Amino acid sequence: MTINALPKVELHLHLEGAAPPGFIRGLAKEKHMDIAGIFDERGHYAYKDFWHFLKVYEAATETLKTPMDYHRLTLAVLEESAASGVIYSETFLSPDFCGGRDLGAWREYVHAIREAADQAQRDMGITLRGIVTVIRHFGPDKARETARCAVETAGDFITGFGMAGDELAGKPKHFAYAFDMAREAGLRLTAHAGEWGGPQSIRDALADLKVERIGHGVRAIEDLALVDELAEKGVVLEVCPGSNIALGVFPAWRKHPIAELFRREVKVTVSTDDPPFFHTTMANEYDRLAEAFEWDDGVFRKIARTSLDAAFCDEDTRAQILKRLEAADA
Ligand code: ADE
Ligand code: ZN
Repeated sequence: MTINALPKVELHLHLEGAAPPGFIRGLAKEKHMDIAGIFDERGHYAYKDFWHFLKVYEAATETLKTPMDYHRLTLAVLEESAASGVIYSETFLSPDFCGGRDLGAWREYVHAIREAADQAQRDMGITLRGIVTVIRHFGPDKARETARCAVETAGDFITGFGMAGDELAGKPKHFAYAFDMAREAGLRLTAHAGEWGGPQSIRDALADLKVERIGHGVRAIEDLALVDELAEKGVVLEVCPGSNIALGVFPAWRKHPIAELFRREVKVTVSTDDPPFFHTTMANEYDRLAEAFEWDDGVFRKIARTSLDAAFCDEDTRAQILKRLEAADA
């Protein structure tokens, strides 16, 4: 089996960030909104750096105004994922963008997203779970409201709680209360760290938020004692190499630390983050990694298993996905 044909498990995908630009332009047209400024002349998302990227991202979400918009978005995104061979995916969802953290509205958005996920499961054979996500630069008060939405909808579809946004805004401990609420509701935890912040940012997320996975985490490579600790404790890193390279965290694929982290037995996984923003897909991530590090299909099979073991899903779902991974080993 070629690397590209391998079934893939993706743990780190922002739903709005995965919106194809044409889809967002279509919504803007329907709603008579002018958002031409967020695209370049070829129609791709245009941004100067990470902080500008966050602004463009938020501007694109302005077009997503109803649960039905999110239903359509979910189908459009899962179609792209399935075309890349993804069979299981977890997506970050933000009550900030889905109804402004109003609980009643949030329930309607979750219902619509879930319906689309069920349809995609039937039609495309891809399974989706949702991770409710705090936007860090919106601050701890909004994070607590977000946690309330998460707690009220926790179940077999909303299975996780996380934090994205500007890693340099505030400290993890400011968000500890929100994460405690989510943990007590049985949600599994992850937080972005070690993308724009260094090793201390990762240490703080682990100590103060008690997360079991770290979004990115790649700047752990600056502190080998931390790398050893991650390996020992089995902390899973949701690594998004194409995102890191597009945003300038590392200058080139060969300079990306994923291979060194893997060699040092850290549990690394591979995801796309916000694929159209970074001109990538899961198939592209696999191709570029194979090329940069001469990884063979054995490495990718191991990464898919690590991802599935770390997935925020129930054991029946894990067993079903495992069967599909094993069928590809035969
Ligand atoms: N939100 C969407 N993509 C993100 C990233 N790469 N880092 C932090 N927040 C994000
Ligand atoms: Zn992310």
